[in-house]
Amino acid sequence: MSSKTFKIAALAGDGIGPEVMREAIKVLRVTEKKFGFTLQITEAPVGWAGIDAAGKALPDATLALCKHSDSILFGSVGLPDRDPTIPKEERPERAALLRLRKEFGLFANLRPVSLPKVLSHACPLAKERQGDGIDILVVRELTGGMYFGQPKKTEDIGGGNQRAIDTMVYTTPEIERIAHVAFKSALLRRKKLTSIDKANVLENGILWREVVTRVSKNYPDVTLEHMFVDNGAMQLMLRPTQFDVMLCENMFGDILSDEAAALGGSLGMLPSASLGATSEGNTFGFYEPAGGTAPDIAGKNLANPIAQILSSALMLRHSFGLNDAAAAIEAAVTKAINAGNRTGDIFSASESGAKRVGTQEMGDAIVAGM
Ligand code: IPM
Ligand code: MG
Repeated sequence: MSSKTFKIAALAGDGIGPEVMREAIKVLRVTEKKFGFTLQITEAPVGWAGIDAAGKALPDATLALCKHSDSILFGSVGLPDRDPTIPKEERPERAALLRLRKEFGLFANLRPVSLPKVLSHACPLAKERQGDGIDILVVRELTGGMYFGQPKKTEDIGGGNQRAIDTMVYTTPEIERIAHVAFKSALLRRKKLTSIDKANVLENGILWREVVTRVSKNYPDVTLEHMFVDNGAMQLMLRPTQFDVMLCENMFGDILSDEAAALGGSLGMLPSASLGATSEGNTFGFYEPAGGTAPDIAGKNLANPIAQILSSALMLRHSFGLNDAAAAIEAAVTKAINAGNRTGDIFSASESGAKRVGTQEMGDAIVAGM
């Protein structure tokens, strides 16, 4: 048994963040005992919680904590209806989430979607289209493209009109490094990579395709195909089983990962890992559920904590190399689902043996299966 200590900054954020984070920490505490390592978990405010506590979406103390930690376990931030007088640059989405992604150079976002057999009713597609199962890894570039490209502004153009500008920018090295992550991920899976672009319209798409094709020469065992993003969105609906790894630039990955998540039963089940320069072994990472703050159900013990719990499993694996503990969490999640535990997002009254549970009860069921 190792006696290693890992420092985790736990930033729960807004909306359902705190309640799903509580369940993830509960599960992590069990792995600590079971596998004999120490997790030094320090909680700190971020998002509107940061603005309320310290006047900033990313308080200085929270950023400092992150810098002194081995990884960040993140909840979610952003409450669209709160205080419209706070300028967009200071709102949580940009000032906390995008800032952290950029600050730590977290260019590789991994979003694994898989539809558990017993949840086929929660998938919006007919059973025939689900085939032998949906199992997709979306690899999303996270620090480039339209999210960060300059110029980015809204300007007056006279006559009471304005012009909004967002700029899509990618360089060869930015495409290369994310392509390597995607090919390496494919090697560990079914060895198929679908690279998504819009090469029929965008300069970015042409460069993306050229660079990915070049990088593919290093991975002769991986089958590469290119697909336009509009077709990719459609193919996800028509025949999702054709996909193994989908490689996307930032914006396309944002959109397609939500679409893919719905195929996996619920956005509440989709974890994500955001990694920096080294994506293997003990590497700094940022782990967050891909869904949002879900303000409509926040604080009601209704949210599905699985995305947060699976994100913590990804953290143990990718940042700390604790593969057994990560696998134990994933197995316990499967067990809890197979036992019929269902939060509202994956519940169907017509499913026999399904038991509607709250956030805490789902966490308890997962703990019980560890
Ligand atoms: C995501 C989210 C974020 C994004 C928002 C909250 C800024 O949708 O992580 O997918 O667009 O990246
Ligand atoms: Mg999104």
